[in-house]
Amino acid sequence: MERSHYSPPWANTSIIGVAGSSGSGKTSLALAIIKQMSLPWVVILSMVLRPRYTNSIQDSFYRPLTPDQIAAAHRNEYDFDSPDAIDFDVLVEKLRDIKEGKKAEIPVYSFEKHSRLDKTTTIYSPHVLILEGIFALHDQRVLDLLDLRIFCEADGDLCLSRRIVRDIRERGRDMEGCIKQWFTFVKPNFHKFVEPQRNVADIIVPRGIENKIAIDMVADRIHKTLDTKSEEHRAELKRLGKEAKDL
Ligand code: CTP
Repeated sequence: MERSHYSPPWANTSIIGVAGSSGSGKTSLALAIIKQMSLPWVVILSMVLRPRYTNSIQDSFYRPLTPDQIAAAHRNEYDFDSPDAIDFDVLVEKLRDIKEGKKAEIPVYSFEKHSRLDKTTTIYSPHVLILEGIFALHDQRVLDLLDLRIFCEADGDLCLSRRIVRDIRERGRDMEGCIKQWFTFVKPNFHKFVEPQRNVADIIVPRGIENKIAIDMVADRIHKTLDTKSEEHRAELKRLGKEAKDL
């Protein structure tokens, strides 16, 4: 279907939240949605580092750790799966900036070092931003900023096996450490904090990127939201006696 062009200003970014278990395929789902939408001004904002995807922002909203906490993390004894580990204040501040069309400096995080790096990544307000992370639907202030709330569902065994492969290949971890962390923190906290986010989701997507119908529906919904926002913007410009420039 022929899509209309969307107009500046870059304010009122549509923000889509994608939550779900570690290893449930949130990032792949976000990428599939983007591909389906075929829009240029779309950004994925991951709540943890995503070294393997060049088109997603490599960032993190984990709180910086003390030297003792870093040592515990290296022993797989630090709980990264509690909402307390996330700096929601910074996340909310950055999302508000993006929503208002302001430039946002996003912290960059090292998985090997378990800490924030000195550099930041800049986001210039896109049309659509997909926020993905285990706690993307946890904080009420974040929920209030979202245009669409998605929960990505996957079988627990699949999540664990994906996580082991990924953590060993890409995050500098070993097998024993991964399994220890999974059963000490990831799994119990999934039931305690992650799974309840299903209740605030607009859409629950089973089978991730295999679920072409869900991806289609989500992309369509986002296009409709953009159409509405674009029409409102044009009407406002007309009211002010100005003309909207297509991109
Ligand atoms: N984590 C970690 N070490 C850190 C920071 C976070 O091991 N220094 C882990 C947490 O245990 C948490 C996970 O990172 O469970 C969150 O990232 P996740 O959502 O798992 O990313 P993906 O699994 O890549 O998500 P998906 O597969 O759904 O795309």
